[in-house]
Amino acid sequence: MRRMAIIAHGGAGADPAKTANIQSAVDAGGRSLAQGASALEVAVMVCAALEDDPAFNAGTGSVTRQDGSVLVDASVQTGDGQMGFVVSMPETPNPVRVAAALIDEGVNGLAGMGARAWADERGFPRADVIPRPPDDAKSGDTVGAIALDSQGRIAIATSTGGCSDRPPGRVGDVPLPGCGFWAESGIAVAATGIGEAITREMLCFRVHDQISRKDKTMPEAFKSAISTRFDEETDVGLIGINEAGATHAHANTNMPWASWTSD
Ligand code: GLY
Repeated sequence: MRRMAIIAHGGAGADPAKTANIQSAVDAGGRSLAQGASALEVAVMVCAALEDDPAFNAGTGSVTRQDGSVLVDASVQTGDGQMGFVVSMPETPNPVRVAAALIDEGVNGLAGMGARAWADERGFPRADVIPRPPDDAKSGDTVGAIALDSQGRIAIATSTGGCSDRPPGRVGDVPLPGCGFWAESGIAVAATGIGEAITREMLCFRVHDQISRKDKTMPEAFKSAISTRFDEETDVGLIGINEAGATHAHANTNMPWASWTSD
């Protein structure tokens, strides 16, 4: 059987103590992969578990916007070119599940009240998202997961409440293809950190391109992109998996992450 793998992060700039929470979600995902679940199912499952954990700025525990609203972003992509993403979505504790449902649709992405109305029609729960306490302004601890299954399929799922002190309607990297995520040709990469800076660099597509062209290995590409394209004050991190089941994580700051492999 092919090697199966999962890697997940809990955000660039987040407390390393959150590693245990991520490991728990990843290990549960590993058990599902071993029982035959697909990479897509497991990436979404791990990401949703982290959305449900108030320790992270995604789903429950998201930061508030400048007007006090809680608006969430999420994305899902598979290595065979399918994707779904939602942007600034209100009243949605698990936006990653809505993003995953978009994978089978003609429309790739939905935003705001349109996304919420679409989710209502399909029965995704509408509920207030409980934000993190106002005195906890940290926003780096967004989440992302990548899985590789026994059939060599690869999938990414990412989710965030955004960065703190941003206006409603602000768009970060997480729901933008090539910026916060990219999966293709047996290689998948997800980013975390300050969304504006990641988006300006189209970071995930940039490093994915270097790896898939074999210009750089995954560790070389991650290290070089983060050290040359971002200043030290800008928190950035990357996680990735290749089709051989090798996992890698790199950041210019603390970034709790965890992995699981089938061997
Ligand atoms: N990286 C999360 C955000 O900037 O929204």
